[in-house]
Amino acid sequence: MARIGLLTGGGDCPGLNAVIRAVVRSGLAAGEHSFLGFRYGWAGVLENEADELTLGSTAGILPRGGTILGTSRTNPYAGGAGGSAAVRATLEERAVDVLIPIGGEDTLGVALRLHREGVPVVGVPKTIDNDLGGTDVTFGFQTAVQIVTDAIDRLHTTAESHNRVMVLEVMGRHAGWIATHAGIAGGADAILVPERPFDIDEVVAHLARRHARGRSFSIVVVAEGATPREGTLQTRLGTATDAFGHARLGGIGVTLEGEIERRTGYETRVTILGHVQRGGTPVAFDRVLATRFGVAAMSAAAAGRFGTMVALHGTEIVEVSLEEALREPKLLDPSLYATAELFFG
Ligand code: F6P
Repeated sequence: MARIGLLTGGGDCPGLNAVIRAVVRSGLAAGEHSFLGFRYGWAGVLENEADELTLGSTAGILPRGGTILGTSRTNPYAGGAGGSAAVRATLEERAVDVLIPIGGEDTLGVALRLHREGVPVVGVPKTIDNDLGGTDVTFGFQTAVQIVTDAIDRLHTTAESHNRVMVLEVMGRHAGWIATHAGIAGGADAILVPERPFDIDEVVAHLARRHARGRSFSIVVVAEGATPREGTLQTRLGTATDAFGHARLGGIGVTLEGEIERRTGYETRVTILGHVQRGGTPVAFDRVLATRFGVAAMSAAAAGRFGTMVALHGTEIVEVSLEEALREPKLLDPSLYATAELFFG
C-alpha cells in the first residue's frame, strides 16, 4: 500500500486529467493505495496545498481539457523557495511515499534534481510541443496538431478568396513539431521552425516564385520559436522570463506579416493561434496515450522504480530514466521537414 502524490506543472495540456484519472483508477484496482493531488504544480507542494483524489473526485474528467489540479511554472529551486528540503517536509507531513509529477522539461527537471537528492519520484512526460527526449510522443501534441490543421484549412479558403498570404503563428518554443506536422496535414506553402533559422529574402523569393507560377495565395506556418538567420531581420521578441528562465515568445508572425507585405506587395495577414492550441478536449489518441502513461506510472511508483519516466517507444509503453529523458530536447527530424518541403511548390 502506497500513498501517491500527484502534480501537474508547466503549461497545461489536453490529456492531463486522463493521466490523473488513470493513476487513481489503476492504483485503486491494484491495491489499497491512496492519492493526494497537489494544487498548482510545485507551488502546491511548497505551500502544502493539496486535496485527496478518489474514485469520485476523478470521475468524468477523462475528456476534460486543462487540469483539475491547476498548474503553475513555480520552481522550488528558484529564489529561496526551499528546494528539496521544502518538498521533503511537505511529503513527510502528508505521508506521501512517492510523487508523480506530470510535466515537461522544467517540471521533470525539478523531478530529476529531487530524485538525485533522494526524493522518490516517477515522471510522466507532457508537452504539446512534443520536444521532450526519451519518448517518441507526448500527449497533447496530437490535439494541438489537429487544432492547427483545422485552422490552416479555414485559412486556406479565405486566403484563396482574397489572394492573400496568410501567416499562421503556432506554438513550439524550441522545436517545430507542431508547425511541421500541421503544415504537412494542412498543405502549408512554407514552414518556419526553430531548428532552421530562416532568411527572409529566401522566404519572399519562394512566395514570389509560387505566385509567378500562377498561385494567387500562400499559407506560411511559423513556429513561435523560429528565428531569422543572424543579421537578416530585426524581430521584436519579448524579454519577460518565467521562473525557469524562459522568455515569453510570440510575435514573429507579426514581423513576418509586415515584412512579406512590404517586400512582395502581396496583401498579407497574420493569425496567432496561441493558447487555443492548448485548450479544450483532448483527441482520442491523446486520451489513450495519457491513460497508458498513467497506468504505467502507477505501476512504476508501486514497484519502487523511482527516477524513471514513462515513455512511448514505437507502440510500447516503457520506462526510461529521467536522466536520459532530460539529456537533450527532441528536435525536429530533418527527414520529416524534407517531406514537408516537397509540397511547398
Ligand atoms: O511549453 C508549452 C508551451 O505551450 C509553449 O509552446 C509556449 O511557448 C508556452 O508553453 C507558453 O506558455 P504560457 O502558457 O506560460 O504563455
